Amino acid sequence: MVTIREEKLADIDAREALLDQAYGAERFAKTSERLREGRLPADGLSLVATVHGRIVGTVRLWNISAGAGPAALLLGPLAVHPDHRNRGIGTRLMQRAVARARLAGHRAIILVGDAAYYARFGFSAGKTGALWMPGSFERQRLLALELKPGALDGARGLIGGAGRLAPAPDLAALLAEDRRTERARARRVRAA
Ligand SMILES: CC(C)(COP(=O)(O)OP(=O)(O)OC[C@H]1O[C@@H](n2cnc3c(N)ncnc32)[C@H](O)[C@@H]1OP(=O)(O)O)[C@@H](O)C(=O)NCCC(=O)NCCS
Repeated sequence: MVTIREEKLADIDAREALLDQAYGAERFAKTSERLREGRLPADGLSLVATVHGRIVGTVRLWNISAGAGPAALLLGPLAVHPDHRNRGIGTRLMQRAVARARLAGHRAIILVGDAAYYARFGFSAGKTGALWMPGSFERQRLLALELKPGALDGARGLIGGAGRLAPAPDLAALLAEDRRTERARARRVRAA
């Protein structure tokens, strides 16, 4: 049975493995990543799909500014494990993400993706013609969905990241972890 729920800390490794499989390492070179890196996703808008407790799908939304226009959300990446595609899991993740964004009072969602897939959820390039990503992008793939009618009327300019900054890693904690790993390795070598 497929369950859609909010992502937990313990899901991160599985989510990253799923994204590596779906998009490869080049996912970090995408212009959308420039809007996400170093930031936290929008509150309550990181979702996973699970089957028998295993992560098989992921979607997250991020706070952005739509040029000189309103605050908005960036959706992505969306991915479903290859073994579980074409069973409606992507659709359920999208529908839940859009519903939660609407409930939280957000005004619009923007994404870079295949119109042939995202049109079914109401996304189109109709209101994005004067918006720009902070790097290379294919204009016909810059899509938006208004959650409040007219939210993107007159939206123009550069899209910018607007989410809370992710806390910097704690150097002392990293060093302590490194020492613990080294001690465990030394114990394994002695025991061998
Ligand atoms: C895109 C993705 C999330 C869809 O997940 P999913 O769980 O298989 O989606 P659903 O089962 O809800 O929908 C399947 C339908 O979407 C269609 N579809 C999937 N990817 C598509 C795409 N890139 N363009 C157009 N249609 C697409 C399927 O052909 C299928 O069509 P049908 O309903 O007419 O049979 C999944 O294929 C994936 O993770 N792909 C890898 C990442 C990727 O390629 N993303 C591209 C989108 S930008």
